[in-house]
Amino acid sequence: MPVTYKIYLVAGARPNFMKIAPLWHRFKELRERFDVYVIHTGQHYDYVMSEVFLKNLGLKEPDFYLGVGSGTHGYQTGRILIEMEKLLLARPADLVIVVGDVNSTIAAALASVKLGIPVAHIEAGLRSFDKGMPEEINRILTDRISDLLFASEPSGVENLRNEGVNEKRIHLVGNLMIDSLKNNLEQIKAVKKAEEMGLESRKFGLVTIHRPSNVDNKASLEIVLSILKEAAAEDKLVFPVHPRTSKSIERFGLKDEFDSIENLEMTEPIGYFDFMNLMVNCRYVLTDSGGIQEESCWLGVPCITLRNNTERPLTVESGTNRVAGLNLSAVISALDWARDFDSSGYRPPKLWDGNAAERVVKIIGKCIYGQ
Ligand code: UD1
Repeated sequence: MPVTYKIYLVAGARPNFMKIAPLWHRFKELRERFDVYVIHTGQHYDYVMSEVFLKNLGLKEPDFYLGVGSGTHGYQTGRILIEMEKLLLARPADLVIVVGDVNSTIAAALASVKLGIPVAHIEAGLRSFDKGMPEEINRILTDRISDLLFASEPSGVENLRNEGVNEKRIHLVGNLMIDSLKNNLEQIKAVKKAEEMGLESRKFGLVTIHRPSNVDNKASLEIVLSILKEAAAEDKLVFPVHPRTSKSIERFGLKDEFDSIENLEMTEPIGYFDFMNLMVNCRYVLTDSGGIQEESCWLGVPCITLRNNTERPLTVESGTNRVAGLNLSAVISALDWARDFDSSGYRPPKLWDGNAAERVVKIIGKCIYGQ
């Protein structure tokens, strides 16, 4: 009997599921070598923030559910650390794979390395150089303690080199989130969410806003409001609202103001296929999400990023992303650019080709089995 290698894939928050799914599928194809399990930390728990993503992505129920839920950073990270350690003590693994930059990422990585279990980090090396972002702290710390660092774009490799990381740990593999998008593109087109909502292709803007720096204080949220008014003066806007954002809108008494924007349709958060169907069909995206900057880049859809920086500079170099911050005049000029954006002849980044999972699994196989 050949020896199988036991691997845990950790996911907790909405953007994690797209990154673990292609790995799960690839490891399952190689079940004589790899015994793979999914651990869901429970950082996100609503159906529309979690389960629908698992379903869309062909992932079965998580093998382990830690059920940590929401809380302050310390509470949430601490609870994941404790629950993850319990699980690893009861059922050790040979390798833990963490993805992205959320609290689940750092907590799961920390629990593993402290027990001597090696960790691989997917999406390593991305840096916004803004420690005001909780994600930046999670990224830096996770990279420091991980054994294998898989970068999605060249800037990740460069940042890790600049931080003095041993070259042998760094692997440029491309983008796992794009594997999920490419693998599911036919189904994404087939769900016809835009059509169902009465939206004409290329005639609407898609909005997502949830960064604490944009929604956790009233002054920023009021600027978001004026940006949306400005965009909605010309385009119909669709805005699936993240739970953090809807709570802030209520708390700051801005609900009526948002509701009064005529061309703005606010909805509950929506699942992966439906959301991506909107992105495939929209004229442009207005967002502060990291993943959406990448997905729009692969699709050749113009993206206006409502942040002062991006840890994903390849999207800017590719020509699909403008980083405008919460600066109304910068957003207005970016809107002009986005409305006239011509994607004919556009080519997405080279390694974002749908084969990142295969590269990752090959490298892991080589590290373990020498081939
Ligand atoms: C987290 C990630 C962020 C990522 C985002 C994607 C961290 C530090 N941040 O931010 O990088 O871009 O996920 O969505 O890990 N809530 C619900 N239902 C849920 C989950 C959350 O109502 O299923 C509400 C809770 O009130 C919670 C708030 O949303 O307090 C924020 O959730 P949390 O996981 O703390 O952070 P996100 O803002 O989602």
